[in-house]
Amino acid sequence: MPTFEQLHPRFAARVTDVDLRDDLDDETFEALRQGFAKYSVLVFPDQPLNDEQHIAFSRRLGPLEATKVGSYGAGTPLVILSNIGEDGKVVPEAHKLNLVHKANSLWHSDSSFKPVTALASMLSAKIVPPEGGETEYAGMIAAWEDLPKEMKVKIEDRIAIHHFATSRNNTDKRLMTKAEYNELPPVEHPLVRDIPETGKRALYVGSHAGAIIGMSETEAKTLITELIGFATRPENVYTHKWSEKDAVLWDNRAVVHRGRPFARDKHARVMIRTTIAGEGSKDIVKVA
Ligand code: OGA
Ligand code: MN
Repeated sequence: MPTFEQLHPRFAARVTDVDLRDDLDDETFEALRQGFAKYSVLVFPDQPLNDEQHIAFSRRLGPLEATKVGSYGAGTPLVILSNIGEDGKVVPEAHKLNLVHKANSLWHSDSSFKPVTALASMLSAKIVPPEGGETEYAGMIAAWEDLPKEMKVKIEDRIAIHHFATSRNNTDKRLMTKAEYNELPPVEHPLVRDIPETGKRALYVGSHAGAIIGMSETEAKTLITELIGFATRPENVYTHKWSEKDAVLWDNRAVVHRGRPFARDKHARVMIRTTIAGEGSKDIVKVA
């Protein structure tokens, strides 16, 4: 049976004594599901998954998202995060493949820009740079718990507007494509969400959020920045230093994450992700 070892006082655990390539029995899978609910981030060292095994394990958690238009892997269940170009060499710093990593370096929750947000994401590390390129996670359940009462009252019924263009245009104006504008219109999600399995509440905000309904643009942007800043205080962050073959599974309802810089024009970094679709938040109708 899997063993869990907590990595941060409030969330995240390392999981050993399980091989994710196996067709896990229900009891083992249930233990992992409970660990996921409890810790929000599960780090599985030394899991040499191929794409098929990665997909098979992820699918047991729920239906997988198809990778959106404009991303490497579009239309498949895999997102490929790689800075290796067609010639097999690491691309220059300003190449789109590196700008994607730069955009991922802003705190975010995956697919918060979609009508149905992601339940979970699972990254499998294929090639990691010798230095940098960590992924950081901030606990949004802890963030909600720790917010001052007045702030809780101020935000608990608020709805934020998330748009893919917000994070992309804040990274590099060249990133957002026409197809992404057409296919990913702004969506609304509550700033605070309930997690049904545990009855916990979590703050829900990140780089795709650019406005709040009923608030001026300036007030909303200031509040969003303040909330992200509060949630990602160093003591509320777990930093994962990758080794090749690590797999990390996280709950996008309960954490935000960001990639850390590395010498993007020197070292290769290749990660593959699956994204498990969520149930949608309240007021949002589930789409196919
Ligand atoms: C992701 C992501 C950050 C990283 O895969 O969703 O944001 O460190 N990755 O690669
Ligand atoms: Mn991400």
